[in-house]
Amino acid sequence: MSFERQYDAYREAVETYLGGLFTDKVPWADLYEAMRYSLLAGGKRIRPVLTLAFAHLGTPDWRKALPVGCAVELVHTFSLIHDDLPCMDDDDFRRGRPSNHKAYGETLAVLAGDALFAEAFRLIADAPGLDAETRIQCVRILAEASGASGMGAGQVLDTLHAPKTLEEIREVHRLKTGAMIAGACQLGAAISGTPGLSDAAGTYGHKIGLAFQIQDDVLDVTADAAELGKPIGSDKESGKVTYVDLFGVDKCAELVRTCTQEAIEAVAAYDKDGFLSELARSLSERRK
Ligand code: IPE
Ligand code: IPE
Ligand code: MG
Ligand code: MG
Ligand code: MG
Repeated sequence: MSFERQYDAYREAVETYLGGLFTDKVPWADLYEAMRYSLLAGGKRIRPVLTLAFAHLGTPDWRKALPVGCAVELVHTFSLIHDDLPCMDDDDFRRGRPSNHKAYGETLAVLAGDALFAEAFRLIADAPGLDAETRIQCVRILAEASGASGMGAGQVLDTLHAPKTLEEIREVHRLKTGAMIAGACQLGAAISGTPGLSDAAGTYGHKIGLAFQIQDDVLDVTADAAELGKPIGSDKESGKVTYVDLFGVDKCAELVRTCTQEAIEAVAAYDKDGFLSELARSLSERRK
């Protein structure tokens, strides 16, 4: 199967799964609506795709990884809702529509984010195709990737510690973005049951994660807001020092290429059909 068709198959499965969540009739329908508003706004879904692709390396039944891949997307969506709040990056536009707090107000945006974060772990706990040991392993991987030594820590450093040196900024990128992308890969590796894959998945994820955030910093300067689906110039406006300030756009492109190549090498022994290398390459060239 071609790279594009495989990616579409993964993404469509993710969309269908996510579309079925939080649809019950409840008195707090406004909470469900706010959660679904951001969840179903059409992100690229790269994190769940990574989970499914790594799971697929060890089993033809990649669909059994869907609850776990979608759990990562719930946590990611929570992080975006909170990231856009006035107390964080204060951005009014996300995934091509008004940010959650612009549509529903700050109170519901905070609570929708909180609820998505918690519900992610329920999806893993209830995942029907996985044994108990794998589910516990997945809970631990996602907690580490998103929590106080992962994305949560990165967001604190990014918003409150004014990182300026290359070492500081690289650490922010590793934690706020790399941790969740590497976690998505390691979750798939855990489900695949392939010996040795977890370390390779972690290396691949951190390499493409750094490339991804460097590219995000570049797009904040060079992209078209309508195409990107979120505001440009946000980093400068909030006084952030980014890779673009340190290196300029051209050198950033070179760094992205180097990280991408290192990522591809890290999984070469497992990536028989080349999906992971194609994915890394396509992300390094993304315009949104
Ligand atoms: C945006 O992530 C936040 C970063 C870590 C840079 P994505 O670029 O994956 O956003 P969506 O999910 O496609 O909206
Ligand atoms: C995103 O970093 C990190 C998150 C954990 C959400 P950014 O603040 O650069 O992401 P965007 O540019 O708003 O998507
Ligand atoms: Mg931010
Ligand atoms: Mg932001
Ligand atoms: Mg950004």
